[in-house]
Amino acid sequence: MKILILGSGGREHALAWKLAASAEKVWCAPGNDGMAGSVECLRVDLKDVPGVADLAARIDADLTIVGPEAPLVLGIADEFASRGLVLLGPGKDAAQLEGSKIFAKRFLERHGIPTASVIGICDSAGEAREALKSTRWPAVIKADGLCAGKGVLVAASMEEADAFIHRLWDVGEFGDAGKRVLIEEGLAGEELSYIILTDGKDFIRMAPARDHKRAYDNDQGPNTGGMGAYSMDSILPAALDELVVSTIVRPTLEGLRRDGLEYHGFLYFGLMLTADGPKVLEYNCRLGDPETEAVLPRVDFDLGEACWRAAQGELEDFKANWLPGASACVVIAAQGYPGNPRSGTPIHGLENAANVPGAVIFHAGTRREGTVWKTNGGRVLIVSARGENLGSACGIAYEAVGKIEIEGSFYRRDIGRRAAAGQEAGHAPKVQEQAATKTASAPRRRET
Ligand code: AMP
Ligand code: GLY
Repeated sequence: MKILILGSGGREHALAWKLAASAEKVWCAPGNDGMAGSVECLRVDLKDVPGVADLAARIDADLTIVGPEAPLVLGIADEFASRGLVLLGPGKDAAQLEGSKIFAKRFLERHGIPTASVIGICDSAGEAREALKSTRWPAVIKADGLCAGKGVLVAASMEEADAFIHRLWDVGEFGDAGKRVLIEEGLAGEELSYIILTDGKDFIRMAPARDHKRAYDNDQGPNTGGMGAYSMDSILPAALDELVVSTIVRPTLEGLRRDGLEYHGFLYFGLMLTADGPKVLEYNCRLGDPETEAVLPRVDFDLGEACWRAAQGELEDFKANWLPGASACVVIAAQGYPGNPRSGTPIHGLENAANVPGAVIFHAGTRREGTVWKTNGGRVLIVSARGENLGSACGIAYEAVGKIEIEGSFYRRDIGRRAAAGQEAGHAPKVQEQAATKTASAPRRRET
């Protein structure tokens, strides 16, 4: 099978790395300099939907897999379908589950899927302030449109909310994407990235993962696209898995069908494991980034075949096996991320890092000038490793991270730390068992 991957980040590098193991040919468009050594990168503008379809037709790709959300929201799946080209990913209408937080919330409510309750849907700063007047804190303000993971504020007070409202409407930081907001109640619990690959009827679950969204250690600082992730099975005990499937995954697939929205592709459920059970924080119509970089090293099946079958509506009976143990990835971010990341800073030590046994380095915001690597974006590199347990996976990843030098860059030093401690004690974190059995208890602190 010849596979074209669309995108240019660490997620796409990880996909290319995994798919190259079994596919006859893998291209990535536009890809990045870091993956160009192992797969062929092709120039393309992902906003030019017909141009991307032309490219897939010209190279005669058997399957196109879409990494980021933007082309899906623009309708790339519809364009490919109209030309008889095989692409894995939902059409424009279904991609609204990610493209509009308000669309997603209405979908969740319409189909009785557990989620945070709505405080307001607001079109102006005045409306937002009014809606927040009598609320309990924390309240969560979400720009309706796509903001690369940065359009959400969990506000602890009116003062914090006010500053964000100012950025949305007065500064216009997110453009039109931030001129309409969803305001919802703040939920307490631990988060879980629950990702499925579905053909619309059947699905396989990816290994469970947990992202670290805040920029700095101990969940301090602004929200980012994700600063690191880990995967191990004990964060999703069987009872919790069953509860997620029966209250969230199946109702979502059934809801899509009832609404006449065809969906095949990856579907990401951002969950909060609350004392009242798992609730949906968000849908993404794609694989998570950096969850993918943590999860794919655990794949023990033919991912290309699974993607092909999902795109063709033939996932029934497909068995996805996962390597035991755990995996983790650490994001190295450029100075200034997530605000204004500094580009053009030299990167040293890549070779030494790659020589750490078990470490895999995925490139995101890098570029090569002759023999010199430089930063070229916010999230620069993602260092991933698999181990017998989370402690050993993190140990390998951090050893490799320590060999990379980029002036002014930073990374979180606590990826998986608390979970690793729990795992070493030989039990899954308690909150998940409680969520699974729906035992009522006081809200707990989020883990990451
Ligand atoms: P979203 O893009 O909707 O997933 O939001 C980004 C991040 O904001 C989530 O991963 C959570 O950390 C946080 N968040 C979103 N919604 C809520 C909520 N209702 N309660 C608490 N935290 C939230
Ligand atoms: N890591 C969260 C996301 O991909 O949206």
